Amino acid sequence: MEVFDDFGRPCGKRFSVYVNCRQKFVQKSVVDRFRFYRSFSSSSVMNLALKNVTVVGSGLMGSGIAQVAAQTGHNVTLVDVSEPILEKAHSRIQKSLERVAKKKFSDNAQESEKFIKETLQKLKTTTSPSDSVKEADIVIEAIVENMKVKHELFKTLDKAAPKSTIFSSNTSSLSITEIASVTQRKDRFGGLHFFNPVPVMKLLEVIRTEETSDDTYNKLMNFGKELGKTTITCKDTPGFVVNRLLVPYMGEAVRMLERGDATARDIDTAMKLGAGYPMGPFELLDYVGLDTTLFILEGWHEKYPENPLFQPSEMLKKLVSEGKLGMKTGEGMAAISPVPRQHAYRDMPKTFAPLPATEI
Ligand SMILES: NC(=O)c1ccc[n+]([C@@H]2O[C@H](COP(=O)([O-])OP(=O)(O)OC[C@H]3O[C@@H](n4cnc5c(N)ncnc54)[C@H](O)[C@@H]3O)[C@@H](O)[C@H]2O)c1
Repeated sequence: MEVFDDFGRPCGKRFSVYVNCRQKFVQKSVVDRFRFYRSFSSSSVMNLALKNVTVVGSGLMGSGIAQVAAQTGHNVTLVDVSEPILEKAHSRIQKSLERVAKKKFSDNAQESEKFIKETLQKLKTTTSPSDSVKEADIVIEAIVENMKVKHELFKTLDKAAPKSTIFSSNTSSLSITEIASVTQRKDRFGGLHFFNPVPVMKLLEVIRTEETSDDTYNKLMNFGKELGKTTITCKDTPGFVVNRLLVPYMGEAVRMLERGDATARDIDTAMKLGAGYPMGPFELLDYVGLDTTLFILEGWHEKYPENPLFQPSEMLKKLVSEGKLGMKTGEGMAAISPVPRQHAYRDMPKTFAPLPATEI
C-alpha cells in the first residue's frame, strides 16, 4: 500500500517532530525520569481493563506507545507496513528498554535481564492490520498524519475488530470526529494524544468527541492511568490543548517579526525573561521544525479560513520553501535574525536530527 507523509509525499522520510521541544525539559528532569521508571511495578500490571493493545504505526510515536504499554503489563501487537520497519522498531524498543533497565536495576543484572525479557515477551509485531485487531481491547493508531491514509486503515480495522474494541488515534492536528467518521463505532472512538518521547513525557490528552460514549471515555482515561500518564480531557478541537496554544503562539511571533515590532532575538528574550518560558518562540520553532508548524497551520487554515490565529505567514512559507526548516536543516529562524548558536540552541541535543523517543 502506498503511504504518504505529511506533505503527500510517498512515505519513507519521517516527518519531523513538533512536540520534540518538550524533550528539552525532559532531558533536564532526570529525577522525574527515575520516578517514572520506578512506577513500573508488578502491582501496576494487575487487573488491566484493556489488556490487549494494538498499536498501528511503529515510528517515533508508535514504538514509544508500544514500549510503554508492554512495560505496564499489556499484551501489545505492533503493526506497520513492512517487516524491516518493524524490525527497526523492535530493536529501538529493545535498546530503550536496556537503558531503562540499566537505570532501574543498576546493581542487579539478573533483574535487569528479566525486566527486558518479560517486557519484550509482551510485544508482538505484524504487517497485517486485520489480524492485529482480532483480540484487541483497544487500538491506538499512530501512522502518518494524512486523513486519507488514516481513513483507509480504520475502514479495514473496523471490519476486522470485535464490536467491543475501542479505537483511538494519536493524531496531533486532525479531527478525531472526522477520522472516526468512516467507522461504525463512533461511540467507541476517541483521541489519545501522547507526547514525544512517549516513555518519558507524563501528559496524555484524552479527546472526547460528541459521540464518544461515557463508557469509552472512562475506559480511555483509565487506560492512560494504567500507562502511568497524567490524563487531561479535551473536546475534539484543533490541536487539543497543548498544540492549540503552542502553534498559534509561534505563528503570532512570526507575524510580529514580519510587522517589524521587535527583533527575533528580543522576542525570544522577552518570552524567556518576561513569561518564564524555557525557550523563546523562535527557538521553539527551530526545534519543532518550520515545515511541521506550517503544515499544521495550513491544515487548520484550510478548514477554518476565518480564524486569524491559523493564518500562515508569508515569512514562514518563504523559509520553508528555501529549505530552512530549523534544527533539522541547521537553518531556520535563527538564520534570519542571527542569534549566536550556543544561545539559540543552548541545552538542545547536539545533533540537528530530532532524537527518537527511544534514544532518550
Ligand atoms: N512526532 C510527534 O512528536 C508526535 C506527537 C504526537 C502525535 N503525533 C502523531 O502521531 C502520528 C505518528 O507520528 P510519528 O511521528 O510517529 O510518525 P512516524 O513517521 O515516525 O511513524 C509513522 C509510522 O506509520 C507507518 N505507517 C504509515 N502508514 C501506515 C499504515 N497504513 N499502516 C501501518 N503503518 C503505517 C510508517 O511506516 C511509520 O513507521 C501522527 O498522526 C502524528 O501527528 C506525533
